[in-house]
Formats: sequence, C-alpha cells, structure tokens
Amino acid sequence: MKGIALFNNLEDLDAESKYLVHKAKEATQLSYSPYSKFQVGAALLLEDGTLVLGANQENASYPLCMCAERVALYTASSQYPGKSVKKIAIVAHKKNHKELSSATACGACRQVMLEFEARQESAMEVIMLGSDQKWAKCSSADTLLPLSFDSSNLKE
Ligand code: THU
Repeated sequence: MKGIALFNNLEDLDAESKYLVHKAKEATQLSYSPYSKFQVGAALLLEDGTLVLGANQENASYPLCMCAERVALYTASSQYPGKSVKKIAIVAHKKNHKELSSATACGACRQVMLEFEARQESAMEVIMLGSDQKWAKCSSADTLLPLSFDSSNLKE
C-alpha cells in the first residue's frame, strides 16, 4: 500500500501502530517545552523490534528548539547505527491537557525522515493525528514530501 490511509478511531489501526502511539503518548512526558507548552512525543520501531523514544526539547533561543521526531530519529541512528526505522508514531498534547492535539510532522522532520529512508533503502511508516482528528497512517515519508530535495540534487 502506497499513500495515506485515514482512520476515525485509533482502535481501527493495527496492533503495532496502536502500541507505538501508546509509547509516543508516554514520551510526551519527556518533553521540555516551557515556551510553547506543546508536548510532543515520538516513538519509533527499529527493524529488530527495538523501541526508541523522543520528545521535543526547547530553548530560550527559540530557533534552537528540536522536534520530538528528530530527537527520536537521531537517537536511533546514533545508538543503533545501521538498523532501519520501520515505523514512527507522533503524538502531542498541550501541557496539562489530556486530549491529543494534531501534530503532523513539520517539513524539517519530513525531510529528515526522507534522508533516513534513502540511507536505509526502505520506507518507514508514519502514524500521526491529523487536524481533522483522523489518524493518518502513511506508507512512507516520501508520500509526505513530494518534489523533495535530496542527494541527487547535489550530483554534478
Ligand atoms: N514540534 C514537534 O516536536 N514536532 C512537530 O511535528 C511539530 C512541532 C514541537 C517543536 C516545538 O517545541 C513545539 O512543538 C511547538 O512548535
């Protein structure tokens, strides 16, 4: 399946995706977000079943803030080099709020996911909650960033 599948209920997703969403929710507790008060968690599953978590980390110098997705992805590539990322789930909520907010991976994170896919020569599934409160299951980061810039643009 290539593309994006939408689900009204989390319950309708496969067990692995639900598990990752659950772990991403837990990861929101690792968020350091005193400025935005927007707590984002990412959970990713490596090819061998290893789970890696990440949460957004902010800074008084705002442009230095780092998204949860990139924290998790760069942790994976530095702690488990050579292991492919099979799937990533992203979840967010406002501080002291239980209900989930939409968090659909910013363009920078999509670009980083794309480089991971090129490097590992396989797609990663991306699970996230869209603005319409529908869960989106994307078959690859490539689907999320058409006409993207990659290493082929740098060839002479
Ligand atoms: N953020 C993420 O961690 N992931 C996203 O996909 C979007 C935004 C973070 C960055 C910043 O700490 C806060 O959310 C508000 O933008």
